[in-house]
Amino acid sequence: MKKILIVEDEEEAREVIVFIVNSKIKATIYESANGQDAIEKIKEIKDFDLVICDYRMPELNGDVVYKYIKDNKLNIPYVLCSADSPTTIEAFKDEKIFGFIIKPFISKGISDIICTLFNDKTIEVPEYVPLSSSLFKSIPIYPSDLYIKLSDSKYVKVFNKGSTYDEEELKRYKTRGVEHLYVKGDQSEVLFDEIQTLLQDILKRKQMTSAKKVKTIFEIVHSIADSYGFKEEVLELVQKTITETIDLVREESLLQKYIQEILQDEDSYLSIHSSLIPLISCSLASKMEFKSKNTAHKLTLAAFMHDITIKNDELTKIKTMVELEKVKTKFSKEELDRYKRHPVEAGNLLRNMKNIPPDVDRIVLEHHELPNGTGFPRKLDYRRIGPLSTIFILSHLVADELYWKKSKIDLVKFIDEELAEFHEGQFIDISAKLKTIELF
Ligand SMILES: [Fe+2]
Ligand SMILES: [Fe+2]
Repeated sequence: MKKILIVEDEEEAREVIVFIVNSKIKATIYESANGQDAIEKIKEIKDFDLVICDYRMPELNGDVVYKYIKDNKLNIPYVLCSADSPTTIEAFKDEKIFGFIIKPFISKGISDIICTLFNDKTIEVPEYVPLSSSLFKSIPIYPSDLYIKLSDSKYVKVFNKGSTYDEEELKRYKTRGVEHLYVKGDQSEVLFDEIQTLLQDILKRKQMTSAKKVKTIFEIVHSIADSYGFKEEVLELVQKTITETIDLVREESLLQKYIQEILQDEDSYLSIHSSLIPLISCSLASKMEFKSKNTAHKLTLAAFMHDITIKNDELTKIKTMVELEKVKTKFSKEELDRYKRHPVEAGNLLRNMKNIPPDVDRIVLEHHELPNGTGFPRKLDYRRIGPLSTIFILSHLVADELYWKKSKIDLVKFIDEELAEFHEGQFIDISAKLKTIELF
C-alpha cells in the first residue's frame, strides 16, 4: 500500500485533504500538524510515496520539510499545497518541486497529482471513504448517504442523502467512539463542493480580519442558496452566523477600517455590496433611535438576502427601472422578469419562514422603493416606506456609490446632490444623520 504524508496545521483543512486523498486512492495516510513533526515522520519512515505539505505553519514552514528531503537525497515527491503560489514564495522560487496544489481547489489538484504520480492501473479506489465526523457540523444538508463502519467489510447507513445536520445524533455516535462517517466512494464527488466551500471558509478564517468575516459569511450564504435554495435550516444557520458577527458590524469606531478592507478585494459586486450594507446601515441605525442588537440583526439579514434570488451579477448592480431600461437588451426576458420580481420573491421567501424577525421581509420588499414614488415594485412614496426600509434604502445607495468610487466619495455632496429629490418625510432626518457618518 502507498504511504502518503499530509502536513497541514489547520485540523479541519487536514481532515478535508485526508478525505480527498482517501477518495482517490487506497493508501496508508500519515498526518503532521507542523514542519517539525513532518521531518520526524520522514526520518522514521523514509519511503513515503508522496508528501503533501502546507507552507505557512507554526514550527517550521513547508520549505524546511522540502529542504530536508532534498538535503538527505530522499526520493520522495514533494507537493506544496498552499494558498500562495510557489513562485511567490522565496524559498521555492528556484526549486523544482514535484507539484503544487492551490487552495482551496484541492480536489482537482490531488486527483491530478495522484494520476501523474501513480500508474493508473495500480490505483485502487476505496469502496467507502471516511470523513471526520466533526466536519459535518459545517455541512448543513448532507448531499449523500452517510454510513458508519462496523467492520472492514460492514458499513451501516445512518443518514440519508438530504437529511440535515443533527448535532444530537452526531454526539451520540461520538460517545460510542465513532470518529468518522463514511461516504460511498462513487458518491464522494458530491461532497467535494461542500468541502470546497468549507475549506474556503477555513482558509479565510485563518488570515481573516473582522470585516472580511462579514463577507465570508455572505459568500457562504450565497453558495448555500445556490446549491440548496433557501430552506428553513439553511436560514437558521445564516441567522446563527449573523448573531456571531453582530458586534462587529456595530463597532462604529472601526467602520472606516472595515469599509477599506471590504473595498480592497476584487470580489463580486454582490458580495462587496452585501457586506457594506450591514456596516453602513447599522451605524446609521445606531445614530437613530434604533440602537438594539435586534435591529442590527434585521438589517444584516436583509442585506444578505435582498438580492439573493438574482442569478446574474450584472443585474445585481441595477438600482432603478430607468437603469434597467438602458441595459435590457443584454438580458433575456426571463432574467428581466426575475429581476423585476426579486424584491417580492425574496420578501415572500422570508415571510414564509419561521423564526425570521419581523420587518426583515418588509425591508427586502421595499429596498428598491424611492421616496418620490418612482421606485419598484410598488411605487411607494416616502409616507408608506417603513423606517427601517428607509435606513436600508439610503445605506444601499451609499454602498453602491462606494463600490464605484471607492474612497473617493464625498458623502455630504453625494447626499446633497445625488439624493436631492429624496428630501421628504423621514428621509430628511435620516439622510441628515447619514451625513454625520465618517466613512473615511
Ligand atoms: Fe435589489
Ligand atoms: Fe442591492
